[in-house]
Amino acid sequence: MNRNYSPADNLVHQFDTVLRTLIPHAAHASRPSPATAEIQDGDMSTEERRHAAGLMRVNHTGEVCAQALYQGQGCTAKLPEVRSQMEHSAQEEIDHLAWCDERLQELDSHPSVLNPLFYAASFGLGAVAGAIGDRISLGFVAATEEQVGKHLEEHLVKLPAGDHRSRAVLRQMAIDEAHHAQLALEAGGARFPAPVKFGMSLMSKVMTKSVYRI
Ligand SMILES: [Fe+2]
Ligand SMILES: [Fe+2]
Repeated sequence: MNRNYSPADNLVHQFDTVLRTLIPHAAHASRPSPATAEIQDGDMSTEERRHAAGLMRVNHTGEVCAQALYQGQGCTAKLPEVRSQMEHSAQEEIDHLAWCDERLQELDSHPSVLNPLFYAASFGLGAVAGAIGDRISLGFVAATEEQVGKHLEEHLVKLPAGDHRSRAVLRQMAIDEAHHAQLALEAGGARFPAPVKFGMSLMSKVMTKSVYRI
């Protein structure tokens, strides 16, 4: 059903999404977590569980950023043909957010206290990119998704050997992120030059270093 939403409707919807993204356990996944009941963890020491929680906290914040990026883009970009595709990708980011949140709970840990900060920064970047133009905005999504994919590959190696449940979550996320990047490029996203990608990876280093701990 097509319906025209008023600016007030949109504002309420935006605010609802902000709260669902930032309040722990408020996000609802549309797909069940890949860490199904059959997947059991092997033995993990206290130190290994702490390390796994640090990595999953980084992944959770990455998903907060993804959510903010798609939302910021949605506010300013035109995206006439691909808006519903981008909204589908954003829905999958909510799944990722909820799965990482669940896994953090299983590891007796918590999302990062810095999430509101990273949400605001990513929303701003997404909105600016969207205002410049759809080619840049979609290129920014593609470059970000590629960056997240690299992180996920690294984390799959760094996770403790016994952490099968986090691994199941990250594997499905890596598949989804690669698909999101491909969709954004096929929709006409610009390929960003190496210096821009380098700047983005520096920023993500700041995020990973801080969020791993708090
Ligand atoms: Fe994601
Ligand atoms: Fe994604």
